[in-house]
This record gives sequence, structure tokens and C-alpha cells, in this order.
Amino acid sequence: MDSMTFVLFGATGDLAKRKIYPALFNLYLNQKLPKSFSVIGVGRGESSDDEFQSRVIDSLHTFSRHLLNDKSKKEEFVKAFRYCQLDVTDTAGYKKLLELVQQNEKEKNMAENRMFYLSVTPEFFDVIAMNIKDSGLGSTNGWKRLIIEKPFGHDLKSAQELNEKLSKAFEEDEIYRIDHYLGKPMVQNLEALTFANPVLQSLWNNRFIANVQITANEIVGVEERAGYYDKAGAIRDMVQNHMLQLLMMTAMHVPKRISENEIRNEKRKVMESLRPLQRDTVGVHVVRGQYEHGEISGEPVVAYGEEPGVEASSQNDTFVAARLWIDNSFWDGVPFYIRTGKRMAEKATKIVIEFKNPLKDLYNSEMEQVEPNLLTININPNEGVSLQLNSKNPINGEMEPITVDFSASKQDVPEAYELLLFDALVGDSTFFTHWNEVELSWNWVEPILEAFKENRVPLHSYSSGSMGPEAAHQLLIEDGYKWW
Ligand code: BG6
Repeated sequence: MDSMTFVLFGATGDLAKRKIYPALFNLYLNQKLPKSFSVIGVGRGESSDDEFQSRVIDSLHTFSRHLLNDKSKKEEFVKAFRYCQLDVTDTAGYKKLLELVQQNEKEKNMAENRMFYLSVTPEFFDVIAMNIKDSGLGSTNGWKRLIIEKPFGHDLKSAQELNEKLSKAFEEDEIYRIDHYLGKPMVQNLEALTFANPVLQSLWNNRFIANVQITANEIVGVEERAGYYDKAGAIRDMVQNHMLQLLMMTAMHVPKRISENEIRNEKRKVMESLRPLQRDTVGVHVVRGQYEHGEISGEPVVAYGEEPGVEASSQNDTFVAARLWIDNSFWDGVPFYIRTGKRMAEKATKIVIEFKNPLKDLYNSEMEQVEPNLLTININPNEGVSLQLNSKNPINGEMEPITVDFSASKQDVPEAYELLLFDALVGDSTFFTHWNEVELSWNWVEPILEAFKENRVPLHSYSSGSMGPEAAHQLLIEDGYKWW
């Protein structure tokens, strides 16, 4: 691929500034962008090309992981940026955008490869997609692709409706749905870890694994997003997408070939085997919570109901934990636990595999207790893998757990957006969410949404800065386990 036009809707927004421009710049520095590329920023406000370019340079100063002092590189990079003022609902305005794109392609002798990135609120996804089609922007001699980011609907029905509309303008294999968790280097590494290591591969089943625990805890609260979050809750914001993606990536089995389609196929199989929940028994397997006031790093923080934009009586979930079962021959009998919450004691995204411990009765004296073997995949804030084994301390002869550790060096790790944008540029959709996965995930989550809405599941409160409601601990204690 030697040329591409990147049309960014929402070019003056927060995501563009924090993530997209720095990611494009890093790709540029690593010579991973096509030789000839243009970025057409689309925004509602007025701006000249020069103003737009300096806005981009500012974002690189603040957010790029390459603290490059060499100004000339940045200036060279932003020369490829043009701005187009457009109200995305104004159908006639797209003609101007098409002219700009075409004129630019002509001037630079570029092929008509067009990437449309919709960094706008989801209510505009279908409007923009249809306008791209109707204006002729989507009729190219090269390829066209659409990148969108969650939320893809707010329940099964709305997701289906959205998909139906998008599919009138783009084919499924032209749609790149970002789940930024799939761009995290350690999540991408799961595939290598489990498929490329015969030692782990042979243990990756219910004969050896006792349970799997997937955690995505955050310290931050609702921040300034009450308008969205109070309607979404942790169930829509984290579980339907990120948590279920982590589950699919962990539980999928080695395909016959390592290819985009085969991997997605394996992921789909996991979702299809996920035991459905019944609305009236959701509470047996799902715990929901909402944060109370408390302390974070020694500072007092307010309860969810006192956050700006949230009604004191809000029943929204800021924490969800659940026990899931995958009914297939590999995972039969192995509980998968997920938990995610805001205002927790620490920021930690990780997957812990607890192995069965059949030897524990061999060593059951006080001196010689054996802990289960644990494989921990740390995703965020630190990237790494560790394996907990039992070993005798050579000095005092006591049995103790030791940890074999690998941690990546922080500064070299590329950002999720960098990896994902590159994949989209080269047309590799392995780490994007296929429509099947979106649909199956909503389908699985649906009884939980209903049970929450009908208040069939108690809403536990937990102190800010804690490890979540006691009920979430009980969920594992019932099965003889604990959260690691
Ligand atoms: C987003 C959610 O998708 O993921 C946020 O909307 C959440 O509520 C964020 O804070 C967490 O992402 P990360 O990469 O910080 O774990």
C-alpha cells in the first residue's frame, strides 16, 4: 500500500488529540504509514489548515510517547493535514469534503484508498456512513474502510439496527470496530502465549485449570462522563465489550491455522458456548455494586450519587462481578470469574489462571503448604507475565511460593491505538470486533440488563478505594476460591 487518505470525523475532539494524532505520528516515525498519505480532519468549528496543523503539533507535544525535540519532524508530518469544516448531518456539505479529498488525491497522485475514522458520538455513526455512501466519498477505485468505536448500540436490538444501517454503506470486512482492549500489547500477546508454548498449550483446559479470573479495576470514578455512564453502567461500558473480549481471547482454542478468520472463528465458538443466564437467577452469578464515598491515595472522594450530573437516587452499577461457564469439552466445569469497577483500590487489568492443586494433600503440614500454581498476565498498568511456583527456600528449607517474572520495558511498548491503526491500514482485522462477537455479547448480556432494570439483583455499595463489595468475594468463596 503506497498511499492513503485518512478522513477523521471529530478531528477537534478529545480522542483525536490524546490518541489518534500521537498514534499516527508514531507510525510515521516508525515508517509504518504509506509513503504518500493525507489526513483530512473534519470538524464542526471553523479552522484554517494552519490552525489545524498547529493544534495537531500541540497534541503531539503533550501526548506522543516519543518526546521528540526535533520540531522539523513534527512539521514535516503535519504538512499532510488539511481541515474541512462540516456539520455531519448536512448532506450537501459532503460534496465539499469529496472535492477536497479528490483534489488532494490528484495533486499527490494518490490511489483512492480511503480510511474513514468516526471519532464522534455514536448517534452519528449511521448518518455519516450513509452520507459517505450517498456523496460518492465511498465510491473509490481503491479500498475504503470505516473505523468506529464502542458503544455499538446500548442493547441487542439497537446494536442490530445500527449494524443494519452501517451495512448499507460498508461491507462487514470494511468495518473495523475498535475495542481498545484488543489493542493492548499483552492482550495481543495472549495468542502467542497460549498457542506458541506447548507447555502452556497442553495445560490450557479443564484437566489442569481450576478457574480463570479476569479483572479490570480502575481508580478513577465517573469523571465528567455522567451523561453517558449513568445510562451505561459497568455492564455496558466494560462487560459487554472489553471483559467478554478478554474472556474470548483467553478461552479460545488453538485454530488449525493462525489467521484472521480462524482466530475470529475460535472466539465466536467461545461466545456460542457461553452458558446463557436466566433473568430470574442472574443474581446467583452476578454481583453489582455502586461506589460510596471513601479515600483514594489519602484524599477523600465523593459517592457515585454525589458526582456531578448523577442523581442521588441513581441505581447505576459502577462495579460488576460475575461467574461464567463455557459449556464445551475444554472448559466444562471451570468457572471464569470477571470483575470490573470504578473507584477501586488500584488500577489493575489482569488475567489470572489458577491451576488445579492435586498435590496439596501431600504437603499439608504447617511447614509445608503448597499454594496453587498461578499464571498471571498483567495487562495494565504494567505489561508482563508471571508464573507462581512452589519451591523450597534453600536457607531455611521451608516451602514457599516463588515467582518467575517477565515484564516489558515501559517506554518501548506501543500504544493500543498505534497497533490498531496500523492493522487497519494494512487491512488486518484480527484484533477488531466482528459483528458476530458484538451480537453474541449483547445477547449474553441482555438478561443481566433486564434483571438490573427490574431490580432483581441487589445493588451493593462499596467504599471508594476498596476492593469492591463483599458479595463479590463471596462469589468465589462459595466455590472454594479467592480473588488473586
Ligand atoms: C473505556 C471505558 O472503554 O475503557 C472507560 O469507557 C474506562 O469507562 C476505560 O475507564 C478503561 O480503559 P483502560 O485502557 O484505562 O483500562
